[in-house]
Amino acid sequence: MKRLVDILRDTHHLEAQDYAALLSAPNGDEVAYLRQQAQQVAVDNFGHGIFVRGLVEVTNVCRNDCLYCGIRKSNPHIDRYMLTHDEVMQCCQQGHDIGFHTFVLQGGELPRDKAQWIEELVTDIRASWPDCAITLSLGEWPRKVYERWHRAGADRYLLRHETHNLAHYATLHPASMSLTTRLQCLDALKQVGYQVGTGIMVGSPGQTLDHLVEDIQYIEQLKPHMIGLGPFVPHHDTPLAHHPTGSADITTRLYAIFRLMFPKVLIPSTTALNSIDPNGRLMGIEAGANVVMPNLSPALFRDQYSLYDGKAATHAEAAEGIKMLQGQLATIGYHINWGRGDSPVFCNNNSLNTNNP
Ligand code: 5AD
Repeated sequence: MKRLVDILRDTHHLEAQDYAALLSAPNGDEVAYLRQQAQQVAVDNFGHGIFVRGLVEVTNVCRNDCLYCGIRKSNPHIDRYMLTHDEVMQCCQQGHDIGFHTFVLQGGELPRDKAQWIEELVTDIRASWPDCAITLSLGEWPRKVYERWHRAGADRYLLRHETHNLAHYATLHPASMSLTTRLQCLDALKQVGYQVGTGIMVGSPGQTLDHLVEDIQYIEQLKPHMIGLGPFVPHHDTPLAHHPTGSADITTRLYAIFRLMFPKVLIPSTTALNSIDPNGRLMGIEAGANVVMPNLSPALFRDQYSLYDGKAATHAEAAEGIKMLQGQLATIGYHINWGRGDSPVFCNNNSLNTNNP
């Protein structure tokens, strides 16, 4: 298996059965070698600096009904909120004061008439902090809306495809949603000129090894700038409440595979991973991740943005815990890189134009 790791590191590609072998091998020296090689490639490309993104959870209002998600529209047990324009600006101001140079506006999928609200926010953030990157993570919208937000100043967009298998997608989403639409959105985002991130939940109900290989192959051909992967974590108020939590082991194997496939891609060590294992963030970095996304949302609203049970939102996971985060990183010889952290390569064929440092 070490041979497969060497081939993936040197050629950035493997055959389907070889990805399956890396994911299904017993956890031992050889899987440790996979993670070590990935960490080394990350260090070769980014040094020991970890990019930080300030996450602002702008709303938990959602028009969609994904079966895994705690803020799905048919969950009556959460209080819905939308931050005000000023509250979002205050979050960004607080983040900028700390030193953040990327703001991520994430939220449920808002009613269509709220596109204007986002456009105004992006315009104001862009004017207030011209040195910062603006990332949106707001789900599926018509291409014209993506264009408006991009023109207003948004640089990056995160939209996980969740699973590339049609039948599996249909078991996780209501009939009104389709994988085709999701993939069209990702294509549109790239064409519009965003740095694009996609990804999956690892261990989502019904996911098989073959599904994971399909996801790897899809991401391999999409060539995104960012790849976000976290374990599935059940939420008690969803139809999938009784399914088991995804595995930290497989999640970090995937970080390592994607690091070897795309040496310069941005891979966050995700909150979901850190929520299921107190050491998750560091395990992610030791498998090749190079980004963390502390929470800048007002503390009052954090419990209501409950995508899954036990979501970490305090201490080193929160912007006010940045010293704790720095301390954790230091234990493994890493530090925060306060730069914007644009994707150092534009992996797609579009002539994306961003201000790389
Ligand atoms: N467990 C883990 N991740 C989840 N997400 C939504 N619900 C869950 C859950 N129960 C992830 C999805 C989405 C991202 C914003 O949060 O992958 O794309």
